[in-house]
Amino acid sequence: MSRRNQKLTQTERERLIETAHLAKSNAHAPYSQFRVGAALLTEDYTIFAGCNVENSSYGLAICAERNAVFKAVCAGQTKYKAIAIVSDDKNFLPPCGACRQVLFEFAPDMELILTNAKGEIKTSSLGRLFPMPADLKMLGKRPSNK
Ligand code: THU
Repeated sequence: MSRRNQKLTQTERERLIETAHLAKSNAHAPYSQFRVGAALLTEDYTIFAGCNVENSSYGLAICAERNAVFKAVCAGQTKYKAIAIVSDDKNFLPPCGACRQVLFEFAPDMELILTNAKGEIKTSSLGRLFPMPADLKMLGKRPSNK
């Protein structure tokens, strides 16, 4: 049976979080010291990991979430079920506005798995956190990748 519309199990969420932690260990964050890891789950259950990568030209920093999405797109994967986001902060870390917009392009209602340094987990959805996106309608176009 297809699992397309099925919710993730707690074990699947924990596996994503573990992968995000591994990615966080490769974060390049010498300027902010704020290390972030993300693990993106595609609809066919492939995982793409990302970390934040900063630069001495500060504005060029890329968030962990977008790093993961761009890797997935580059591998031909554009349908997502969930993303787990980890940092060493005591607060739950939601994706920033830019990342919400980029995630929305591919998976408007995907599950967001937020964590804090204590290892607590909070789940939400992109639709809930990003209710008024800019999308193709705004351009007066129908979706086409050509
Ligand atoms: N950052 C992420 O990677 N993801 C977020 O959700 C928030 C912020 C990064 C960007 C920058 O390298 C550092 O965290 C501080 O903002």
